[in-house]
Amino acid sequence: MKKSLIAGNWKMYKTPNESIAFAKMLAENIKLYDDRDILICPPFTSLFPVSRMLSGQSCLKLGAQNVSFEHEGAFTGEISTVMLSEMGVEYVICGHSERRNIFGENNDIINKKVKKTASAGMTPILCIGEKLEERENGKTFEVIGSQIKESLDGFAQPERLVLAYEPVWAIGTGKNATPEQAEEVHSFIRELMADLFNARLSENMKVIYGGSVKPDNIDSIMRQKNIDGVLVGGASLKADSFARIVDYKA
Ligand code: PGA
Repeated sequence: MKKSLIAGNWKMYKTPNESIAFAKMLAENIKLYDDRDILICPPFTSLFPVSRMLSGQSCLKLGAQNVSFEHEGAFTGEISTVMLSEMGVEYVICGHSERRNIFGENNDIINKKVKKTASAGMTPILCIGEKLEERENGKTFEVIGSQIKESLDGFAQPERLVLAYEPVWAIGTGKNATPEQAEEVHSFIRELMADLFNARLSENMKVIYGGSVKPDNIDSIMRQKNIDGVLVGGASLKADSFARIVDYKA
């Protein structure tokens, strides 16, 4: 059985103390599911205290929002895969649209981050997605296609990968893609992955959706055939809304 993945991206919210209190509340309130993995991605500064607090006893997995593609060295302000692994981090978000569009990360940089993450034994969550004008100009598939091809060029561990389709126009805007719009892109991604790697890998891998996922749209999103989970920003910052999302009914 392929488990779904429900991931919360806290972005630059919550201090270490706020994170501990919040993660504790989630760990107490979210039950164990056989068919879904639940992931929280706090800021770097909260990973260590949250990891200690959870100490492997909870249903919550831990993810980071970014990583360096370098191993170690004179790279001021960067965080390495070794540092993350030691804190129990299992997933790393690579190439979130805020990294691409605000901090100038391109597919080359993201490609190195994906490879570094996987070779360190963690799962990269590679984010891809078109901007509004690209969608309006009929370029969605072209953009998604080149993001995937370039970010995965020479990647030898695709069985470790999660892909997150996050249309940029739907992130933090309250404007989500309709489940049908998302499904259309997810099925395109599935076909492309079968071409680039193989059909079995494409079938077995998780392709998740992100962009204004909320308690009131989660069920219809998760009902789509090619959607294997969600990456949630704003609605993952409140315990009741995240718990409802985790408890989706497909
Ligand atoms: P949002 O963010 O749920 O607030 O739209 C999603 C994301 O950026 O991953």
